[in-house]
Amino acid sequence: MEFEIKTKEQYQDYYKKSIENPKDFWAKIANNFTWQKKWDKVLEYNFEVPEITWFKGAKGNITENCIDRHLKDKGDKTAILWEPNNPKEKAIKITYSELHQKVQQFANVLKKNNIKKGDRVCIYMPMVPELAIAVLACARIGAVHSVVFAGFSSKALASRIDDAKCKLLLTADGAFRGNKTIDLKAIADEALEMSNSIETTIVLKRINAAISLDKNQKWWHSELENVSVHCEAEIMDAEDMLFILYTSGSTGKPKGMVHTFGGYMVNTAFTFQNVFQYDKNDVYWCTADIGWITGHSYIVYGPLLQGATTVLFEGIPTYPDGGRFWEIVAKHKVNQFYTAPTAIRALEKYPIELVEKHDLSSLKVLGTVGEPINEEAWHWYDTHIGKRKCPIVDTWWQTETGGIMISSLAGITPQKPSFATLPMCGIQPVLLDENDNEITGNPAEGRLAIQYPWPSMARTIYGNHKRFKETYFSTFKGKYFTGDGALRDKNGFYRITGRVDDVVIVSGHNLGTAPIENAIDEHKKIVECAVVGFPHDIKGNALYAYVILYDGVTGDEQLKKEINDLISKQIGPIAKCDKIQFVSGLPKTRSGKIMRRILRKIASNETENLGDISTLLNPDCVNDIILKRI
Ligand code: WT7
Repeated sequence: MEFEIKTKEQYQDYYKKSIENPKDFWAKIANNFTWQKKWDKVLEYNFEVPEITWFKGAKGNITENCIDRHLKDKGDKTAILWEPNNPKEKAIKITYSELHQKVQQFANVLKKNNIKKGDRVCIYMPMVPELAIAVLACARIGAVHSVVFAGFSSKALASRIDDAKCKLLLTADGAFRGNKTIDLKAIADEALEMSNSIETTIVLKRINAAISLDKNQKWWHSELENVSVHCEAEIMDAEDMLFILYTSGSTGKPKGMVHTFGGYMVNTAFTFQNVFQYDKNDVYWCTADIGWITGHSYIVYGPLLQGATTVLFEGIPTYPDGGRFWEIVAKHKVNQFYTAPTAIRALEKYPIELVEKHDLSSLKVLGTVGEPINEEAWHWYDTHIGKRKCPIVDTWWQTETGGIMISSLAGITPQKPSFATLPMCGIQPVLLDENDNEITGNPAEGRLAIQYPWPSMARTIYGNHKRFKETYFSTFKGKYFTGDGALRDKNGFYRITGRVDDVVIVSGHNLGTAPIENAIDEHKKIVECAVVGFPHDIKGNALYAYVILYDGVTGDEQLKKEINDLISKQIGPIAKCDKIQFVSGLPKTRSGKIMRRILRKIASNETENLGDISTLLNPDCVNDIILKRI
């Protein structure tokens, strides 16, 4: 491909061009793909509306670019290398030719089940090859996939099904997770009772659970019988919806971020290639789940667009032991390894023999994503996994951005522990001070915004364009607001310091505190509560709940358990609170808004410098909270 960046000077040159003349730059990159028809206009945008169109008038299909395009010279190359949860079960290799057939075949299953271009398909599945195949099969016929992480509760699943009005649900009889099994089908059935739009459910057999199907539910394997392995790719407009993916918001229900085909394709391929410096015979592994944007962009689409071999891992890092990741690296001779800081911090705690007994010499590049990586974890990763010879790319981006925004390019541009470093081509970050003015010059610290569109940015929130505008384009006029704070060092390297809104990143999962509070508030003994994040050794952040009880109710361990059970049920176990403190009041502003800033400081044990609390409606409660802090 023409867009490979191989030197630091080339990066500087490309970056400069991408800023000075973005339309020409992106047109050159887009020229590398297969299109049925080229675009009439590269970019039209207005951040005030907001309205963003890339490659208007262009037509094509992302699966032709992920699969068909590679058949000529890579038909026998492994596209997906699947490693099961249990190391005793056999790994599966799916070549590009096989993937081609499987995707077309399942695309025909979708059609047979009345799915057409534009229909939404909800995918609630374990990390098995069929999940990736289902995603691509949707794309093949222009159906919009909405993948819901299989760790989410029935309620969370139901609300996502209803929000997108999905017609079809793809799920499994269960999932393996370490030494446990998860009863996915039962959770899905509960969700179906609570939601309205699903007409048909197709169930994959994964764990051989003794389950039965209701009417309108079908077995995956039966659906595949007598189905043709030929299915023409639907011709899509560059701005047709490719998928919806939900991300937590600071208020209310999750946001269904909408990504469209053309721009998303161009930028995920471009960033994948250049950040990881993928070479033609490499084996690349991203440990994320396809239920998150990282899995969409850098397990499925980015790698396949580049004809890579991408590893899909069903299990968890600690089963059968804390050396599982390293065992897989050795077994499949992984060259690029991409994971989350929370996984690194968890695995650091295990005996180092679990690393050393595996041959990690195949590794060339390491990556991290999802949250800031602390220096100590960075050095452990560098020393013990990369043996100080692998560049580490710290990639900053978001569900909303579709692709990596700020990162070094492995071995090409400099790295600096705990810094994501430099923007990718076409990305124009700015820092803003508390008066919303841009801070120029270095060093600087402020809120991070992006002042120009890039091809893979989300186009809207499904069914709620107003919220899209309010969340991302109203804080700063004419700019996309990320919700993150950042600092920029004297060399212009960015370090992301964390969220500045009410979103907490727990173990790399983006959790809005509002839905957690809503879950807790459902308990009949509870008047009100506030949830904040606090630093945690392994998870990065954990959750701290301050809870006000009705008079006469005692706050005990049983009640804490009930609170966490409620959260598990409504959102999922990842949102459970590590600490729950029963309080008599919550600090509020005169307009009644909870002062989370103060609660965050107390939870982090930074009680010396709480700032001015005299403006509070009820300053007295603060001392009381501090005294009984957990
Ligand atoms: C938030 C987005 C991007 C895929 C995974 C998470 C935080 C992400 C980094 C990083 C510091 C990071 C930010 C961002 N974040 N990557 N390399 N360094 N912080 O996607 O769930 O949409 O969360 O994750 O706070 O806003 P997401």
